Parts: sequence; structure tokens; C-alpha cells
Amino acid sequence: MHKELPKTALQATCNGLIYDWSYQFLTPEQLTEFAAKRLPEGFDVARQQLLNGTYQNVSEKRDVSHVLSRSRHSVVSQGDQSKFAKITRKLRSGQWLGATGKPITDIVNIGVGGSDLGPLMASFALKEFATDIHHHHVDTHFVSSMDGGQLYAVLPIVDPETTLFIITSKSFGTIDTFANVNTVKVWAEEGLSAQGITEKGKTLHDWLEHHVIGVSANTKKMTDYGIPPAHQLTFPESIGGRFSMWSAIGLAIATSCGVQVFERMLEGAKLMDEHFASAPLTENIPMLMALIGLYNREQRGINNVAILPYDGRFRHLPSYLQQLDMESNGKQYTADGKAINYPTGPIIWGGFGPNGQHAFFQHLHQGYDAFTADFVCVLHRHTKQFSDKVRRSLSSQQDLSVANCLAHRRLMAMGQKSDNPAEHYPGGHPSSLFALKELTPESFGAIIAAYEHKVFTQGVAWGLNSFDQPGVELGKKVAESTYAAIASSEKSGEHAATFDASTQAILKWMND
Ligand code: F6P
Repeated sequence: MHKELPKTALQATCNGLIYDWSYQFLTPEQLTEFAAKRLPEGFDVARQQLLNGTYQNVSEKRDVSHVLSRSRHSVVSQGDQSKFAKITRKLRSGQWLGATGKPITDIVNIGVGGSDLGPLMASFALKEFATDIHHHHVDTHFVSSMDGGQLYAVLPIVDPETTLFIITSKSFGTIDTFANVNTVKVWAEEGLSAQGITEKGKTLHDWLEHHVIGVSANTKKMTDYGIPPAHQLTFPESIGGRFSMWSAIGLAIATSCGVQVFERMLEGAKLMDEHFASAPLTENIPMLMALIGLYNREQRGINNVAILPYDGRFRHLPSYLQQLDMESNGKQYTADGKAINYPTGPIIWGGFGPNGQHAFFQHLHQGYDAFTADFVCVLHRHTKQFSDKVRRSLSSQQDLSVANCLAHRRLMAMGQKSDNPAEHYPGGHPSSLFALKELTPESFGAIIAAYEHKVFTQGVAWGLNSFDQPGVELGKKVAESTYAAIASSEKSGEHAATFDASTQAILKWMND
């Protein structure tokens, strides 16, 4: 397929961020026409409500307020920001002491989904921006997987006397998180006992007192668990889990990068909120992203978007966007509970672009399937580290990555005709490019907020509620009964006979 590319680049900008949609095979006129047909009448009101925190999550009967959490003032007024900042500074300055009087050197964030992906992604991306560079050295680790797989790696390299655990869970009841917390509790009690804290019942008390911070919307559960109120951070129920990295859930971002960096990230997101509110349609990044996505899904029948970052600091972006988009818009019911019989949110997938080139790009260039892609690249990277010579070499590596990003994107769009099938590249794949002049906490916050607003806009256009997730619940229930069956068959030696043949055979095999 050979398609014409525009003579003038199609780009929208917001504070050092360029969104280029030149390779979407759409003209501004077509897009404007599509928007007029496709955006529902009440969209402007809905957008205004989202931005002022009054949009309704109808099924969960609450406001949607994550946008408000970018505003420092509102967080301060909840009393959490100052506590958030104090806790962070105490940890980063080495003044937070463990039960045996030693300063904390390692922080482990235990959470899953929105309580893991945002903090993990942002801490990884923004680490180098920590301004208080001479702070006491604290390493931050992330543990989310229910199988304990990450604990196998983290526990041997941290010390119970100097490790603090942040338990992040909006509900403070997610089984994955508490499976990890339970193991950690046993490990910590053993470790602290070995250091002479042996008085009955005291080890656990000391651990909770010195080594645990809770972050949740459910204060009661944190208190019931035994976390001292001074070490509890809260956020409103109206902030959805997958939109929560801007709230106290982002504590690990602040402990990794500093409070200032965290605030700069909020500032960047706020600038994107303002841009979303006021930029004209064909200059409005989230609106363009949303409309282009709707067009590709509905008019071209493309069911997936590959997220392809070309800067390693964005390595965790694809997984983050997977939850943000698929948990929000992967639905077949409207906000008022009616069945939907048209396609909604696409499959989001992807990976670090340069490595993907040596893995799945063959399929993208010459495979059968239709896809769309979002490329992300960072044009310049400055660092004060290293000698001039090493810096020059690193800078040419950045150029190499940008060149590869631009080249593969062009090839996917334009293809290359050849009579030899092995050298024929069909092309015609629509893609967009986010080019950041530099990665900064502000540009990082802005790009994430842009994706949030894209998801919101598409949800409104599809008439669904992007802020609930009932579809994950049944899986949890089925898993519970299966887990109970494994436990009882381990105890009795008998396996439950209520499952299908395949499940029963596996359970039997577990017991043999
Ligand atoms: O997967 C369902 C979900 O509820 C997500 O929406 C959420 O981010 C994740 O589980 C973790 O929930 P919590 O923060 O309550 O532990």
C-alpha cells in the first residue's frame, strides 16, 4: 500500500513536547470533519467537569478528581502534601531510623496495578533529576507480583534493619499486595529477632513502627493493620488507581527523585490540563490523539496500538499505558449500563523500540496484521556526569536512537515497493510521534497527562465510564476458589472434583 504523506508536517506542541501526526494519512480538514460528527454534544461540558473534578464516575457513585491532584494547593489543603514531603525528606536525608537505630538505606514499594506501574515508571524515568544530589543514598525497589518472584530477587540484597516498605494499595486489600506483605513480615520478624529484638510481640510492633508506611484511600484498614497514623498517607477515593501516581501513591517517585522533581512532574501535567482545556482542536494534543485513535479503530478497523519509546527512560511506558487505556476503555457496556455493540478501547502493547527492532519489528514491517503505533523519542539528553569525551559518545548514541526512530517510523508509513517479495515492505501503517526536546519532569508529566485525556475523550465518545473496572472482579473470585482448592488438596491429599478436566488434572499433578 502506498500512501501520500503531507507536504507540511502536521504537529501540535505543548511546552517542549511535539505531537507529530503527519503519518496518520489524515488531513486537518478530514480530522475536523470527523470531530464534528464523532464528538458527542456534551463533550465540552464533560471535559470541563473532568478538569474541575466534578465529572461523575457513575457506577462507583463518586467524582473523578485525579486532575485536582496536580494542583499543589489542593494536596496541601488535604494536609497530606506536607506529611508527604516531610516523610520523603526524612527518608532521603538518612534521618529515618529503623528499629535498631540504623538509617534506612532501601525502600521497597509493594503494590500492584496503579499502585505500582506509575511509581515504577516515573521513578525510573526521572531518577537523574534529583536536585538534592548529596542526599543520603537510598535505593528504591518495586515488588508487585503475587508469585513472590520479585521478592526472591529483592530480599537477599536488602537488610531488615535498614529497609522500609511502602505498602501502596488504594483499597488496602488487594491479595497480590498482601501476599507479598505477608512474606516480608515473616522475613522482617526473623531478621529483626536475630538482631536481639526478641520480646514476644515486640518485633512485629517495632517493624510496623519503624519499617512500614501505608498509602491508601482506606485509613481504617491501615489503622486496623497496625500502621501508626503518622506513617499513613491517604488520598481521596475519587482518584482512580490507574490515575493515582500524582497523589500520595507517588511516594516512591519522591523518595527516588526528591519532592521537587515530584512537584515539577505535577506542574507538567497541569500545563497539559490547561492545554487540553483551551487549545484549538487541530493544535490540541490529547484531542488529536483521541480523534486519531477513534478514526483508526472505527474507520480503519485497526484494533491495536504499539507503544514504542526510543529512550530507555521511557522503558516502562508501554505497561503503564496498557493499564491506563485497557482497564479504562476495554468495555462493552455504556455508562448507563446498556450493551455496546461497537468496538471500544484498542489493545495496547509495545516495548522499548531499539530492542523491538531486533525482536518484533520484522512482523511490523512485513507481517500480515494491521497496527497503529505511537513512537516516543527524546531529541537531546544533557548530563553533567562523565568526561567530555564520554558525554560526546553518549550524545551520539542518543542521535543514533532518534535516527532509528525516525527511520523505522518512515518505513512503516511509506513502505518500499519491490518485485522481490522478500524486499517488499507494504507500509501504510498509521503512526504518531511524540518528540520531546528533552526529557524533564515537566515534559514527562505532560505526556502522561496527555494520554490520560486521550483515554477520557475516547471513553466519552464511546459513551462508557472510563473510571470503573468490574471486569477484573470475576477473575479474582474464580482465583480464590481455585486457591482454596489447592490448599485443601495439599492438606487432604484429595483434589477437588468440581473443576473442568484440565484444571483437575493439573491439581492432581500438583499433589502427586
Ligand atoms: O486490577 C484491578 C485493580 O483494582 C486496579 O484498578 C488497581 O490499580 C489494582 O487492582 C490495585 O488495587 P489497589 O491499589 O486497591 O491495591
